[in-house]
Amino acid sequence: MKLDGKTAIITGGASGFGLGIAEKFLAEGATVLIADIDGAAAEGAAQGIGAFAAQCDVSKDADVAALTATAIAKMGRIDILVNNAGVTHLPAAMEDVSEEDFDRVLNVNTKSVYLAAKHIIPLMKAQGSGAVLNVASTAGVSPRPRLSWYNASKGWMITATKSMAVELAPAGVRVNAINPVAGETPLLKSFMGEDTPEMRAKFVSTIPIGRFSTPQDMGNAAAFLCSDEASMITGVAMEVDGGRCI
Ligand SMILES: NC(=O)c1ccc[n+]([C@@H]2O[C@H](COP(=O)([O-])OP(=O)(O)OC[C@H]3O[C@@H](n4cnc5c(N)ncnc54)[C@H](O)[C@@H]3O)[C@@H](O)[C@H]2O)c1
Repeated sequence: MKLDGKTAIITGGASGFGLGIAEKFLAEGATVLIADIDGAAAEGAAQGIGAFAAQCDVSKDADVAALTATAIAKMGRIDILVNNAGVTHLPAAMEDVSEEDFDRVLNVNTKSVYLAAKHIIPLMKAQGSGAVLNVASTAGVSPRPRLSWYNASKGWMITATKSMAVELAPAGVRVNAINPVAGETPLLKSFMGEDTPEMRAKFVSTIPIGRFSTPQDMGNAAAFLCSDEASMITGVAMEVDGGRCI
C-alpha cells in the first residue's frame, strides 16, 4: 500500500492513462478524485472503481478553482496532483494546424499546469508536503514529424516540471513527470492519423520492447513517483517508453 492515506486529484482520469493511474492509486490505498471535462464519463469511471468525480475543464480558471474546493470538501486535503488531461492536434504540417487547434492544445496541455499550480500549490506549501506528477510524453524528448505543436507542448511540460521542482523543493513539494510512449488509449488514433495494422506496426517498430504502452504501465510509474518511496526524487521526467528514446 504505497499510497495508504494519501489523497489524489487525477485530471483526465475518466479514460486511458488517467484511469489506469486512478485504478493503481486506489489499489495502493489512496483516496482519488477523478476530474474530467466529460462529467458523465468521470462519474461513470469513478463509480466503477470507488473514486470521487468532478466535472472540470482544466484550461479554465474558474473550473480549477471549483475543483480545488470540491477536492478539499470531499477529501480534506490534497497530497497528490496528477496533471494528466491532454489533447493533440491531428498529424499535419506545422503551418497547416489551425490557430483554434493550436490554442486548444496549448491551453489543455500547458495552461492547465499553471492553473493547477495557482490553486493547489499554495495548499501543498501550507501543509509542507505534496507530490505533483505531470504526464508529458516522449514527444517532448524525441519528437515525431507532423505533431509539432503537441510535441512542443510536452517539451514545455518537461521544463515546467524541472522549474516547479527546484522552486518547490524547500517547501517539501516534489514535482516529477512521466514520458509515456504511444499507448493503447482512445488518443492513440489521433497520433497515428489512421488506425491501421500498417500504421500500428510502424509505431511499434520504434519501441525496442516491442509493444505499445498501457494505462497499467503509467499507473505503476505514477504510483512510485508519487509515493514516499520516491522522497529523494524530484524534477525527473521519466520515460515509460520501452526504450523508444534511447
Ligand atoms: N496515448 C498515448 O499514446 C500518449 C502518449 C504520450 C503521452 N500521452 C499523454 O497522456 C495523457 C492522457 O492521454 P490518454 O492517451 O489517456 O488520452 P484519453 O483521450 O484516453 O484521455 C484523456 C482524458 O482527458 C480528458 N480531457 C480532455 N480535455 C480535458 C480538459 N480540458 N479538462 C479536463 N479533462 C480533459 C478527456 O475527456 C479524457 O477523459 C495526455 O496528456 C496525453 O498527451 C498519451
